[in-house]
This record gives sequence, C-alpha cells and structure tokens, in this order.
Amino acid sequence: MAVGIFDSGLGGLTVLDAVQKRLPDVPFIYYGDNANTPYGVRDADDIFRLTKAAVEHLWDNGCDLVILACNTASAAALRRMQEGKVPHGKRVLGVFVPLIEALTERQWGDNSPPREVAIKHVALFATPATVSSRAFQRELAFRAIGVDVEAQACGGVVDAIEEGDMILAEALVRSHVDALKRKMPSPDAAVLGCTHYPLVADVFQKALGADVKVFSQADLVAESLADYLGRRPDMIGGGTSAFLTSGKPEKVSSRATQFLRREITFTAA
Ligand code: DGL
Repeated sequence: MAVGIFDSGLGGLTVLDAVQKRLPDVPFIYYGDNANTPYGVRDADDIFRLTKAAVEHLWDNGCDLVILACNTASAAALRRMQEGKVPHGKRVLGVFVPLIEALTERQWGDNSPPREVAIKHVALFATPATVSSRAFQRELAFRAIGVDVEAQACGGVVDAIEEGDMILAEALVRSHVDALKRKMPSPDAAVLGCTHYPLVADVFQKALGADVKVFSQADLVAESLADYLGRRPDMIGGGTSAFLTSGKPEKVSSRATQFLRREITFTAA
C-alpha cells in the first residue's frame, strides 16, 4: 500500500520530509505514537512492546516495509523484532545503519571487517534509552576501530519539542552540549542520534562550534531508502500518503505544521 514511517512522536517527521523530497512518487504512511511519547525514558521491554504494536498496525494497514524513524525504537526493539516473527513479505528497518555507514565512510551494505577511519572522537547525543542500550557503539564497532565515543543522554529535549516549548528545548540542548564537552572537550564529529534533534540542529551546531561536523539522519536515511527501493521496487506498494497518530489529531497536526512549515493533517490511528 505505502511505505510506513514510524516514530514515537513528531521526530520522525524530519525523516519523512527528507524521504518525501528524495522519493516524491512513493506514498508514505507516517505513524506517530504521540499518546505514548517519549519512549526514551522507558525500559527496553516497554519500548519493544509499543514499537511492535505500532509496526504491526502499519503492516496490517498494508505497508510491506516499515522504517523505524526513531533511534530509541531502533536501539531497543529492531533486532528483537527482526529475530522474532516477521510476517511473510513484510520488512522492518531502522535508522542507525545509514548514519554509521556515513560516519565510517562505507557504501551501503559494505560488510568488510572493521577498519580505521578519519573520525576519532565522536560525541553521541541521544535519548537515555538509546544511550543505555549501547546499540550505536555496537554497530560502530562492527565497522570501525579506534573511534572514541562519548555519549550524552539528552533528558527532557524530546518532551520539550513534543510540547512545542522550543525555548526550553534549546536551553536543554546547550546544557547537554556543555556536559558533553566536559567529558570530551574536542570532538571531531557529533551524531544527532534522535530524530527529534534535527529540529534544533542549529542550536547543537552553534554550541559545538563550526569545526565539529554534525551528522543527522534524515538525508542519509533518504539516500539509503532510495537505494533499497531501487533494488526492491516490490516493497513500494500503491495507495496514498497519510498521517496517523495515537494522540490527539488536532494538537499533533498543529505542531507538525509548525515544524515542517506546511499544512499537515493527522487522523486517529
Ligand atoms: N525520535 C525518537 C528517537 O529518534 C525519540 C524518542 C522518544 O520518544 O524519546 O530516538
């Protein structure tokens, strides 16, 4: 029917926007679990249960391919879902791998042994659940050696963004960057490991300084999805794009419209 894009709330819209621009003819169904956001303060079992229910909802609505446009869900639930019972003809993919491939200068799907890369000191900004899962460090270790990762759990940022309190979100970002810099004074690169954070990317960049390369996922995921669908056109499906939420459609539509600066209308999932 369409490609499903899932996030705990509004953050996945940063990915949706990029994939829609890269693949304008592909229909997408976006599902935000706004009733249960944020996921980043929940434990792994809870995140798995919520993510599984949401992905199954998208599968049941005809999406053969679902992208977890949420690092927290990718970190806590993706592998468990892929190793469990995935219905025939259905797929679920996450957002970590394209980011790590870019960071480690790899082409899509290059599975050669880990090697030294130019970037040596990486600051990772993510939700508490993503940081404690160590999924980013694990995926990185498969591909690169000698990279020092300092992770900063950015408590409160997702809640502030979901509530539309951008002044609070920006203040929290500055204080999380300060905390990171006390542990790693001169990172070469920073990873925005939460799909909500591109909405405050300029605040991260300013606080980190212009010489720190900031990686965010939206465009990287869009390129990797274009590559995947080029090889698997059968996963595109037909139908029309839609926005679904488990939260209050009016409130979610108004925030989404504010973030993407175009009219977005959510309906109840
Ligand atoms: N956008 C989700 C992520 O990429 C945010 C998670 C949350 O709900 O805390 O991690």
